[in-house]
Amino acid sequence: MTNSLFDDFDLRGLKLPNRVVMAPMTRARALAEVPDDLTARYYEQRASAGLIVTEGSPISREGTGYVFTPGLYTEDQVAGWQRVTDAVRGRDGRVFAQLWHVGRASHVSLQADGQPPVSSTSKASGDSAFAYLPDGTPGRVDASTPRALRTDEVPRVVSDFATAATNADNAGFHGVELHAATQYLFEQFLNSQVNDRTDRYGGHTVANRIRFTLDVVDAVVERVGADRVGVRLSPFSTVGGMPADDRTEETYLALADELSARRVAYVHVHDTSGFGADANSIGARLRALLPHLRGDGTAIILAGGLTRRSATDLIDSGLIDLAAFGRPYISNPDLVERFRDDIPLAPANPAHFFGGDAVGYVDHPAATNLSA
Ligand SMILES: Cc1cc2nc3c(=O)[nH]c(=O)nc-3n(C[C@H](O)[C@H](O)[C@H](O)COP(=O)(O)O)c2cc1C
Repeated sequence: MTNSLFDDFDLRGLKLPNRVVMAPMTRARALAEVPDDLTARYYEQRASAGLIVTEGSPISREGTGYVFTPGLYTEDQVAGWQRVTDAVRGRDGRVFAQLWHVGRASHVSLQADGQPPVSSTSKASGDSAFAYLPDGTPGRVDASTPRALRTDEVPRVVSDFATAATNADNAGFHGVELHAATQYLFEQFLNSQVNDRTDRYGGHTVANRIRFTLDVVDAVVERVGADRVGVRLSPFSTVGGMPADDRTEETYLALADELSARRVAYVHVHDTSGFGADANSIGARLRALLPHLRGDGTAIILAGGLTRRSATDLIDSGLIDLAAFGRPYISNPDLVERFRDDIPLAPANPAHFFGGDAVGYVDHPAATNLSA
């Protein structure tokens, strides 16, 4: 059966055999913050995806907001990720590392010497973090009040991203995705209601709001090349205590123009507006913005409640190029084959989404093995 989901796609020279992307998903199983054999097996099992984007990988201790997330800033972590990329490449897969700095979405127990997390602002999010309780056990806590980065500190954070991109390159990734979505550090600069700075990164003008993101894009592009850089965005998202921002269109239109001028490989949009099952569930404002995010030839990936049907319709309509799936990938390592052969999807158990061991992680069988 022909279906555009299974058309190949040229991602700036990287040939994807289909349009199905595995969305980035934190699974919080890296007890030492280093990817291990289980991590490698998990991604290897999902290697038939057109493209895998890994779980968010903190670029620094400061950028960490959750326990047990595998970073990209120590030698051990790079070696751990190398096992992952070897495993995925061994099955002819393609994998981008998601580079992550959570900004204020952190807690003093995760920071060096119990320091406050950093942000564009010194206002707390009011949201929670998954960190350490006073007795040292992991648990949900209120995100700590952050410290606003001084202007002269911003280049250091930019440079941490650049180093992580080089580390990703050394670990064998095909490229990197900047996690500029759902409340984390980039959004803390992009959102005019959160960014209360008055310096050149300040929230009052659109050029200033997008400056931090562009500084990082430029630094990372210099390390690995624009063809190997994607950016994840979630315009209109209020996840994690982000306030609605009436300057969203202005901000993201300007950002998209600049990303397009820089020839990044893709913009990956996370639609958090709803988890409905059809294409019309995309929020109306986001739907109107989507064509503009494409700019001059930037590929568009969309994630958020997609199904085989809605993804196909969206690709056929020309609104998106690639469709990313999160939760379906947790319990269906062979999602591409299931879509292709119209095999029903196995349901995932949210109790195993974050933390734990092999259970609910690498023990979901492929459909072809079910009868074996
Ligand atoms: C367990 C879990 C962990 C997630 N972790 C991340 C993450 O690390 N980075 C990110 O950008 N999005 C993350 N997301 C969001 C997903 O990438 C995806 O956009 C979202 O689940 C919507 O897609 P879906 O409806 O197909 O699940 C996570 C989602 C889930 C369910």
